[in-house]
Amino acid sequence: METLHTKEVANGTEDTDGVYKAIIQPCCIQDLSIIRAEDKIHAFPSTRYYGSKRRLLPWIFENLKDLTFRTVLDGFGGTSSVSLLFKAMGKEVTYNDALLSNTIAAQALLANKVPFDNIEEVDRFFDSVSPVNGIISEMFQGVFYLNEENSWLDGVIQAIYLETELKRNIYLYCLFQACLQKRPFNLFHRANLNIRTNTSVKKSFGNQTTWDTSFSILAKRAYRELEQTIWRSPSQHSVLSPTDVSDLDTGYDLVYFDPPYINKKHSGDDYLRRYHFLEGLCQYKEWQDMIDTSYKNLQFKKKIHISEWQSRSYFKERLFSLINKHKKSIVVLSYVDNDVV
Ligand SMILES: C[S@@+](CC[C@H](N)C(=O)[O-])C[C@H]1O[C@@H](n2cnc3c(N)ncnc32)[C@H](O)[C@@H]1O
Repeated sequence: METLHTKEVANGTEDTDGVYKAIIQPCCIQDLSIIRAEDKIHAFPSTRYYGSKRRLLPWIFENLKDLTFRTVLDGFGGTSSVSLLFKAMGKEVTYNDALLSNTIAAQALLANKVPFDNIEEVDRFFDSVSPVNGIISEMFQGVFYLNEENSWLDGVIQAIYLETELKRNIYLYCLFQACLQKRPFNLFHRANLNIRTNTSVKKSFGNQTTWDTSFSILAKRAYRELEQTIWRSPSQHSVLSPTDVSDLDTGYDLVYFDPPYINKKHSGDDYLRRYHFLEGLCQYKEWQDMIDTSYKNLQFKKKIHISEWQSRSYFKERLFSLINKHKKSIVVLSYVDNDVV
């Protein structure tokens, strides 16, 4: 048995003198509700999302921990990693991202409890998927995954939509992780299944073993990671419907902005092009109408508020007007040295 001293935050004000003492049995060490914020970080899920701050969280924590704030907006929330840090710090966090897939993942990650009786329920769900024909097997042949994998994806999506919203969010989160892991570069920006199938070429990137691992195994693994992340927080949090960051209300004690990075030479793909397939999975019935068939990767039709944040011509103007709008809050900005700001 060991004693852990944690500095807990009550209603957002740092409780510096009221040190909370918790007696922790070694077997309860995963109970994140009684572990210090900086220690909780290690249990957050790993991610391969483009621009994720998951690995920088200890550094971000060190730089934020002495600021006084209770309510916080994570305006470009991405993988929720920074929102989870705020939750671990006991703050009232509001998550936003322009992508629906990220929003659904945030609902799963920031939840206070899991809706399953036991882990076997999740295993049974992914193990019992029946492959069927659907938009993925019909439209995405040879684009991202093998034919039998496409039919499995059509099957799992149809099964997921029969579940309650809480379970659906978690199943989708696990499926997103599996989909990303099975993709070269973890992206959907190119129709490049051949990189995976051309086994005669030696690759210096990616992991053939993971690409060839089944969706159900990877999804079940993702659930195990997710389960470790979920803990009950005394502070409230909210996940907004996907909104252009420029349209969000003001009034938070602190706003955290982690916008897309714009390289000086080229703007790069926007987030919708990188992750459109996940967006399709969570808008399955409407998917076909959202596709721009002039692209080989069958990406979504452009959304101006996403592409402009990735454009050298608009980025600076959008960023400065966003900071100006929130000037009464503490503004925390992540950026890359040498990129456009
Ligand atoms: C650099 S990533 C944020 C990474 C995040 N902090 C994390 O740790 O995962 C930028 C995010 O901005 C989102 N985004 C792009 N345009 C947006 C907009 N107009 N409004 C809100 N979010 C937007 C993208 O979907 C992407 O998730």
